[in-house]
Amino acid sequence: MGSIATVRLAESDLFEEVVLIDLVEGLAAGIALDLWHDASIARFSTRIIGSEDMAALAGVDYVIVTAGKPRTPGMTRTDLTSANAAVVGPVCEQIARHAPRCVIVVVTNPLEEMTHLAQMRSGFPSERVLGMAGVLDSARFCSLVGLTGLALPSEVEAFALGSHGPEMVIPLSQARIKGRPLTDLITGDQLDAIVERTRDSGAEVVSLLKTGSAYFAPGHCAALMVTAMASHSGQVLACAVDPKGSYGIRDTRVGVPVRLGPAGLESVVELPLEPGELTALRESADRLRERINEVA
Ligand code: LAC
Repeated sequence: MGSIATVRLAESDLFEEVVLIDLVEGLAAGIALDLWHDASIARFSTRIIGSEDMAALAGVDYVIVTAGKPRTPGMTRTDLTSANAAVVGPVCEQIARHAPRCVIVVVTNPLEEMTHLAQMRSGFPSERVLGMAGVLDSARFCSLVGLTGLALPSEVEAFALGSHGPEMVIPLSQARIKGRPLTDLITGDQLDAIVERTRDSGAEVVSLLKTGSAYFAPGHCAALMVTAMASHSGQVLACAVDPKGSYGIRDTRVGVPVRLGPAGLESVVELPLEPGELTALRESADRLRERINEVA
């Protein structure tokens, strides 16, 4: 997934350099060279460096953490908690050592737990440790709506909030197709099926791949968060953060709409959710708090 994020970051041409790190000797350097060979056709000038040494992160502004194991068919994301905590914790200590001012974007599952762990182990303020899931889940929903033929995927606007898992909340009151309420165009069972398929999309990909999990869309979504910060685009993106009282939620990590800036989280955007949607979001935050406290 890191290599796809690298491609997207390089193609944005916003960065001097992208560094890929993998502990397997030669792997990151090989991928970096392969990607760099594409620079003349893809027309980017961002240098791509590969290394097995975390010291290569010295001074970077943004770090995307994808380290850890993916699910295999039949596993839930929380089945990965202890295995991935053993990887993400030490990795984030090293990130803090080599890039003490960076913003960390966590992609490793279980997402909200690993985001919280990354904050604890890096010692960074919570504004500088963001979880990438809502961008992916929102994108999946919009693309799946596109399969109905009623709109192009890019004409659908929606947010997936809550958890990157069973407690995902897609507030349909906020979903639009070319500015019109989505619920005017799609209703009932068809819409329920799209919401359900979105929630299970990660598992659907895992069950098809059999080894490994989704790659292309998550890599792009992580890169999108970084380009939004670096370019200060002001785009509202769903990210896993500590809402610190927004939506009446605090002391947890949960997907909410946010604005990002060069130094991470700038503000949580409070959408006018319907009462049922707000309740579902708060319940999701409660479940996540319980799971996060177990990791802590
Ligand atoms: C997924 C993984 C990235 O949803 O959690 O595909």
